[in-house]
Amino acid sequence: MSTPILVTAGLPYANGSIHIGHLVEYLMTDTFVRALKLLGEDALYICADDTHGTPIEINAKKAGVAPEDFVARFAKEHLEDFHAFGIDFDSFHSTNSEENRRWVEEIYGKLKSGGYLTRRTIEQLYDEKAGRFLPDRYVKGTCPKCGAKDQYGDVCEVCKSTYEPTDLIDPYSVETGTKPVLRSSEHLYVELSRFADFLREWSAAPGRLQPDIKAFVDAWLDGGLKDWCISRDTPYFGFPIPDEPGKFFYVWLDAPVGYVSSTENWGRLAHRAGDVDRIWRQNGGRIIHVIGKDIVYFHTLFWPAMLHAAGLSVPSQVRVHGMLTVDGVKMSKSRGTFINGATFRKHVDPLYLRYYFASKTGPGTDDIDLSLEELVNRVNAELVNTLANLISRAATFLADRLGGTYGQLRPEASEHLAYAKQKVAEAEAAYRNFDLAGGVRAAVEVANLGNKLFQDAAPWILIKTDEAAARDLVTLCLNLARTATVLVAPAVPAYAERVYNILGLPAGGPGHFEEALRFDLVGRAMGQKGRVVEKLERKALDQVIEDSKPKDAAPEAAPEAKPEAKAAPAFEALAPMIEYDSFEKVDLRVGLVKTAEVVEGSDKLLRLSIDLGEGRDRTIIAGIRLAYAPEAVIGQRVIVVANLKPREMKIKGKIIGTSEGMVLAAGPGGKDIWALSVSAVAPPGTRVR
Ligand code: 2FM
Ligand code: ZN
Repeated sequence: MSTPILVTAGLPYANGSIHIGHLVEYLMTDTFVRALKLLGEDALYICADDTHGTPIEINAKKAGVAPEDFVARFAKEHLEDFHAFGIDFDSFHSTNSEENRRWVEEIYGKLKSGGYLTRRTIEQLYDEKAGRFLPDRYVKGTCPKCGAKDQYGDVCEVCKSTYEPTDLIDPYSVETGTKPVLRSSEHLYVELSRFADFLREWSAAPGRLQPDIKAFVDAWLDGGLKDWCISRDTPYFGFPIPDEPGKFFYVWLDAPVGYVSSTENWGRLAHRAGDVDRIWRQNGGRIIHVIGKDIVYFHTLFWPAMLHAAGLSVPSQVRVHGMLTVDGVKMSKSRGTFINGATFRKHVDPLYLRYYFASKTGPGTDDIDLSLEELVNRVNAELVNTLANLISRAATFLADRLGGTYGQLRPEASEHLAYAKQKVAEAEAAYRNFDLAGGVRAAVEVANLGNKLFQDAAPWILIKTDEAAARDLVTLCLNLARTATVLVAPAVPAYAERVYNILGLPAGGPGHFEEALRFDLVGRAMGQKGRVVEKLERKALDQVIEDSKPKDAAPEAAPEAKPEAKAAPAFEALAPMIEYDSFEKVDLRVGLVKTAEVVEGSDKLLRLSIDLGEGRDRTIIAGIRLAYAPEAVIGQRVIVVANLKPREMKIKGKIIGTSEGMVLAAGPGGKDIWALSVSAVAPPGTRVR
C-alpha cells in the first residue's frame, strides 16, 4: 500500500478576494502536487476557507448579512478563481463545518484533559458602543514611543515600535470612533512552554524544516515560549468553547484544524474514509504544509503542539516560501500591483502566470519577485519560443509535408534520447525537492535540443532528397517535444493537454511521468495540428495593472506625475577637471528602493532601505523628503554612491542612524530635488559608469 502524501496550502480568509499574493502559493503547491501525482505518488492537495474571527464577523454585519452567508459568497468566488487558474484541490472545504467543529472539540478536549490549559484574567480595551473587546487592529491612537497619531494597537507604522493596545495614548475604536474603556475578562491559555522538549525534537528531525526556518524556531525556543490565549469573548464568529459560556475558540485555533477536517471531507468524497485516520491518527502518511513566511510561528509551534497533545499525527514537513513582491517591492493598490486573480485572468491567460511562478520557485525561502518585464520575456522565450515552437514547427511540418504520419527512431537518435532521459531524471529529483524551477528548466533543455536538431537538419531541404530521413528527424523532434511536455505538464497542464491533442496522444495530458521516456510516437498518425500558445503581449499586463488601480484614487504623487519644467537656474560653474581614474574611484550602482519612511524630528530626511544586489538592504538617509513623499520613492530605481564610507547622521546632536551610501539627485535642495532614476529593468547592483 503506498503512503499517502497530504499537501496543504494556507487557508485563505473568507473575507476577501484571491490575489496574486495568494496565487503564488496555491500555484506552486498545485504544480508540486501534480508532479507528485504524475510520479505515481498517492498525493492529495487539501485546503479550505478560513472562515472565523472578528474581521469576518464585523464585515458581515456591515454587509447586512449573516456571517455564514458572507463566507459562503467568498467560498464561491474563491472556487471560481481556483478553477480558472487550474488549481485542482482534492478537497476545498470550510473551517465553519461540522467536521471541523468535531475535530476542534476533540483536540481541545485533549488539551484540557492533558492539563495543558490555564486560566488568566486580563484587562483589555472594550468598546462600550459596539459592545465588544477590541483586537489590536480595531483600536488606534497615538504611538506611546514617537507620538505619531492614528497608529494601530500593536505596532507603530512610523517608528516601528511594538506595544500593547493599552499603551496607546488617546485610544479610539476603529469601528465606532468612541474612546474604549478597560474591562477585565477571564481567558484560556495553552501553556506552550510545556511542549518545548517535544518541539525541539520535532523541529530537529531531518527534512522537517528548511535550515533558516529551523534557526527561527531554535531562537523562539531559546527565548522561552509564552502561553497562548485561545479564547475570545462574544460577539465572535467561531465555535463556542464547550462549557465556557460566552467564549469562542480563537480563529487560529480552529484554522489549521481545517487541514484535518478538509481531509475528512476528501475521504468521504473519494470513498477513502479509512485513509483519513491512517493519515491523521496513525502516522500512516506524510503531511506537508506549504505556507508563507508570515505564518511560521503558528505552523512550527502552536500547530504541532496541538497535534501532539491530541495524540494525532504531526506534520512531516513545513515548507516555507518567500513573500511575493512585484517589480521588487510589496504589492501596492495605488500602483496597481495589488492584483486580484479575477482581474488578471480577465486580460491574461492564467497559463502564463503558472509557468512563470513555477520557473521562479526553488526549494528555499527567498522572496519571489513578479517582474512584469521578466514575465513577458521569460514566457515568450521559454514557453512560446522554445517549448511551443518545437511542437508547432515539427507538427506542422509532419502534417503539411509528410501526411501526418510518424516515421521511425533511428539508431543515431539514441544519444539524444539518452540526453532526454538524463533530463527526466533531473526533473523528477527537482520536483520531489520542490524545486519547480529545476523541473521546468529540464523541459526547456529538452525542447532546446529538439529545436536545434530541427534547425540543423533542415528537414524542408532534406525532404527533397531523402523523405524518409526527413520524416524520421521530425519524428525524433516530436518525441522530444512529448518528453518536454510531460516534464512541464505539472506547471502548465492546460498547455500539455493541447500538445497531447496535437501529438495524437490520449486526452487529459500525460498520466504518468514515465510517458516522458516512452518514445513511441512512431509509425502511426499524429493528431490535429494547431497552435498551442500565443505570444504574451506586454500591453495585456498593462491592462491588468490599469484595471487594478483604485478607480477613485487621486493621481499618484511624483515621480510618476510629470512635474512642470522649472525655469533654468543660473549656470553653476563647473568643478575643476579630473582624470578618469578619479571618477573610476566612485562606485555608482543601481539601487532599488524597498522601503521609505520619514525620519522623526526632521522635515528634510527620508530613511530608505535600498537593495544594491548585495543580499542585504542598505539603510540610506537622504535629504529628499521635501521633494518626495515616502510612497513616491518606494519601487524606484535610483543611483547610489555605493562606496561612500558609512556616516553617522545627527539631528540637533542626536544620532538618528547610519547612512550607508548616498542617493544621487539633481537640484539646489528643498522642494527642488530630482532624484536620478533609471530604467525599471536595470537589476539592482548594476554598476553605473
Ligand atoms: O494567514 C492567513 O491568511 C490564514 N488564513 C492562514 C491560515 S492557515 C491554517 F493554519 F489554517
Ligand atoms: Zn511610533
